[in-house]
Amino acid sequence: MDKVLGIDVGATGIKGAIVDITEGDFVSERIKYPTPKPASIENVLDVIGKIIRDHKWEGKPFGVGFPSVIKGGICHTASNIDDSWIGFNLLQALRQRYTQNVVLINDADAAGYAELEYGSLVDKQGIVILLTLGTGIGSAVFHNGILMPNTEFGHLKYKKSVAEKYASNKAREDKDLSWKEWGKELDAVIDHIDFVFNPDLFILGGGISKKYHKYSEFLTLRHKIVPAKLLNKAGIVGAALAMHKELMEKGILHNV
Ligand code: BGC
Repeated sequence: MDKVLGIDVGATGIKGAIVDITEGDFVSERIKYPTPKPASIENVLDVIGKIIRDHKWEGKPFGVGFPSVIKGGICHTASNIDDSWIGFNLLQALRQRYTQNVVLINDADAAGYAELEYGSLVDKQGIVILLTLGTGIGSAVFHNGILMPNTEFGHLKYKKSVAEKYASNKAREDKDLSWKEWGKELDAVIDHIDFVFNPDLFILGGGISKKYHKYSEFLTLRHKIVPAKLLNKAGIVGAALAMHKELMEKGILHNV
């Protein structure tokens, strides 16, 4: 059985679990720490270290999903995390501290990988767009199963700001919106993305995907929308899967 540790860094929590890559499921307890305040580089790296030690995973391969545009290991944006991350080479820091066998990808891209691999999607052909609805809105775009990384649909200009300020789950909670009010905001955002990208399918992820039945009726395009299957496990599972893919590509098959 191939096992990899997946870590999902979010605005409110940093979570990790050991993932069985064959099944796409956890084979350890999921450990969660609150995201430190401030979510500075040192503080977040320390929590990642704690999760590695908690799982007795020192020196072993792991993957990290992070809420930022990631290019060449460098964080390029920081919408819901501390600004000090912008320009920081997180991949290099993780390699220096923990192991060379680590990958770093955007958190929504990680969730997308997991949904495509283990979700209920039979047909991966065409364009599939996953949106994660949490503190922000993350996006992952796939064409025939291949990821186009680092899209940021949560930051499309919308009303007086950007889409995630109106249609994320945090926006719903902060503004105390009814399912109908919030559903209509989300509908407008999805409609716009649909018009520009013409995907064949939308997958709605994040913890709120389990309440899909409460807002699906307000989504005009519901005939081509499905709720995510892995719910909030997707970020962890996808980060581990990304690391596993890299090990396979390098020809390092890891069995523990
Ligand atoms: C960030 C994205 C991230 C998303 C979900 C957005 O605010 O810009 O990079 O994927 O939140 O965490």
